[in-house]
Amino acid sequence: MSAELAIGIHDLSFATTEFVLPHTTLAAHNGTEIGKYHVGIGLRSMSVPAADEDIVTMGAAAAKPVVARHGGDRIRTVVLATESSVDQSKAAGIYVHSLLGLPSSTRVVELKQACYGGTAALQFAVGLVRRDPSQRVLVIASDVSKYELDSPGEPTQGAAAVAMLVGADPALLRIEEPSGLFTADIMDFWRPNYLSTALVDGQDSVAAYLHALDGAWKDYTEQGGRRLDEFRAFCYHQPFPKMAYKAHRQLLRNAGLDSDESLVAHHIGDTTGYNSVVGNSYTASMYLGLASLLENAQDDLSDRTIGLFSYGSGSVAEFYAGTVVPGYRAHLRVREHDEAVTRRRPIDYAGYRALHQLSLPEDGGEHAVAAQTGGPYRLAALSGHKRIYRPR
Ligand code: CAA
Repeated sequence: MSAELAIGIHDLSFATTEFVLPHTTLAAHNGTEIGKYHVGIGLRSMSVPAADEDIVTMGAAAAKPVVARHGGDRIRTVVLATESSVDQSKAAGIYVHSLLGLPSSTRVVELKQACYGGTAALQFAVGLVRRDPSQRVLVIASDVSKYELDSPGEPTQGAAAVAMLVGADPALLRIEEPSGLFTADIMDFWRPNYLSTALVDGQDSVAAYLHALDGAWKDYTEQGGRRLDEFRAFCYHQPFPKMAYKAHRQLLRNAGLDSDESLVAHHIGDTTGYNSVVGNSYTASMYLGLASLLENAQDDLSDRTIGLFSYGSGSVAEFYAGTVVPGYRAHLRVREHDEAVTRRRPIDYAGYRALHQLSLPEDGGEHAVAAQTGGPYRLAALSGHKRIYRPR
């Protein structure tokens, strides 16, 4: 089961946006009974990007402390996964690489498969480190989740980036083989190039997620994976936190285990803290769940096994296991992550709506972008169709 060389997540840091919209504000606007948001889908608030924030500024902000702690010398590859990219050709990670001052002797590439891309990036990183264990790979998952105003998806928006340093002899999580895989050509959620907001068949997408979970778990067991009762906790992709509960109840039921609510809460409860106040961050979502689990579980998770289920509409899913490394607590970023969510400025409904409808000029002219973010990097200007990023 475990390979001789331990490879996995050595450091994990996340960043989110300047603004936050409480669901009470959205509910007051659209007349929804707040229980639907707080209890029905499990969300309290969602992150809203400032005019000068995007996947690049969030990705660089997430990765900055990782590079500050470990240096950039051993990073030979940067993989940025996203489904809200800023260019059809240039990899967004190149802007991040430049903002972070990483060496030119680096390969940088962007990956896409809806919310699954972050896990694909992580598995590619594991493969690269297995080939040369002296190297490290910087994996960044960064997304802005955006649906049409007044649509059913609107309350499940959000934005965040996670940066993970992947290497040999990791300090946080050893990633195990095998993985359980599942792919199906379906249209549950997608975004054509000409749209800024996603299209989704909401209830079908929930069913598709659950179907993919069945498929990935089946493959995981067929590949010789662990028994369900060997896991201490499970991190699910969280388009909204209640999805993790729906998924986990199904997994337990299908395995013939009692889906008793106290067991479900024990397995899932610590994973939803950040997602419930950030909203959907697509590729980053499951890894915010992992951060939340490692930082909030009261018991010592050392040598305990965590199940991770990554789902990307369209669809690709993967179930894999990781084992927590003894001593992990000394490497967590509890204070920085708490600050990332508590420093956000509440925005009123009119301000949120204005940012939602904001589109950047497309005329190729010279345009300064309004300075709003308090984060370390900003989109400063557009010039001749080029995006100009600057440290703040
Ligand atoms: N108090 C408590 N609960 C309440 C309530 C109240 N007053 N009113 C309603 N609820 C409950 C409902 O009973 C329901 O619970 P169950 O799911 O347990 O039955 C829950 O709140 C949601 O209510 P509805 O199903 O009526 O909500 P909806 O139809 O308006 O939309 C949604 C729900 C389909 C998830 C919608 O938010 C949506 O389209 N979201 C975007 C798509 C999405 O997130 N899909 C998830 C799978 S795809 C994926 O994972 C990829 C990705 O990231 C997008």
